[in-house]
Amino acid sequence: MEFITYEQQEFVGIITINRPKALNALNSKVLEELDATLNNVDLDTTRCLILTGAGDKSFVAGADIGEMSTLTKAEGEAFGKKGNDVFRKLETFPIPVIAAINGFALGGGCEIAMSCDIRICSDNAVFGQPEVGLGITPGFGGTQRLARTVGVGMAKQMIYTGRNIKADEAFRIGLVNAVHTQEELMDAAKKLASIISCNAPIAVRNCKKAINDGLQVDMDQALVIEEKLFGDCFETEDQKAGMGNFLEKDKEKKLKVVPFQNK
Ligand code: CAA
Repeated sequence: MEFITYEQQEFVGIITINRPKALNALNSKVLEELDATLNNVDLDTTRCLILTGAGDKSFVAGADIGEMSTLTKAEGEAFGKKGNDVFRKLETFPIPVIAAINGFALGGGCEIAMSCDIRICSDNAVFGQPEVGLGITPGFGGTQRLARTVGVGMAKQMIYTGRNIKADEAFRIGLVNAVHTQEELMDAAKKLASIISCNAPIAVRNCKKAINDGLQVDMDQALVIEEKLFGDCFETEDQKAGMGNFLEKDKEKKLKVVPFQNK
């Protein structure tokens, strides 16, 4: 891989977009490598992913403007689909993904962060959808996910003005869950990932699926989705151990950390 590094630390996989000379901008190669990296994650041994950018200045400064500058209408649409397909894979990935946003998260950078389950950032992070200033719309899901994340009014304001916002404002509007110093960001992301990884893996996966799938349908259908995924947890090793520990008044006993089980 030229632009992506992948590191496994216990049950946590860390994906780093590594193209710092272009502030980790997303060209086709980066998108293809990210797709391949996700395809290769070992879901038997990985319970949570962290996505970050190389260097201390930028998470992802957007889609690659040089590559986009000469695209035709059809090629532009295909490039949008390429990004959307990878980001959707990230959004629907079976295990949680934490974005550790360590600087600029502009255009495609803000969009990839919004495809993750949880966003935390460093205090130098800058967010925005500056596309209208480049003569295009957000094209990797920004027109859809920003409105769903921060509300329609704020999303429209950010997208129509193309104005960037700093970390504290991103926190205030709910675009990120927490702001850390640069030095503390990765430790905070790893701590969060480790807490998630200690919980029952089938239950965590089913929670992600229930939340994601339920948001696509009305409440009656959403509750049926929840019931099925709730039921799916029963008879698993973790359900028996987790409830057994409680009933034996051994609440301190952690769930046995076992590779992902299908049963
Ligand atoms: N695409 C390609 N190259 C980029 C890039 C991008 N999105 N962002 C930064 N770079 C490159 C610069 O061209 C520069 O390369 P050279 O050293 O070869 O000249 C290098 O990264 C460093 O950038 P700057 O010198 O500009 O650094 P800076 O600190 O002065 O400014 C910045 C940082 C404010 C982030 C500025 O680089 C910038 O505005 N970048 C573009 C941000 C942007 O508009 N993103 C949206 C892209 S469109 C999009 O993403 C569409 C979509 O939805 C799919």
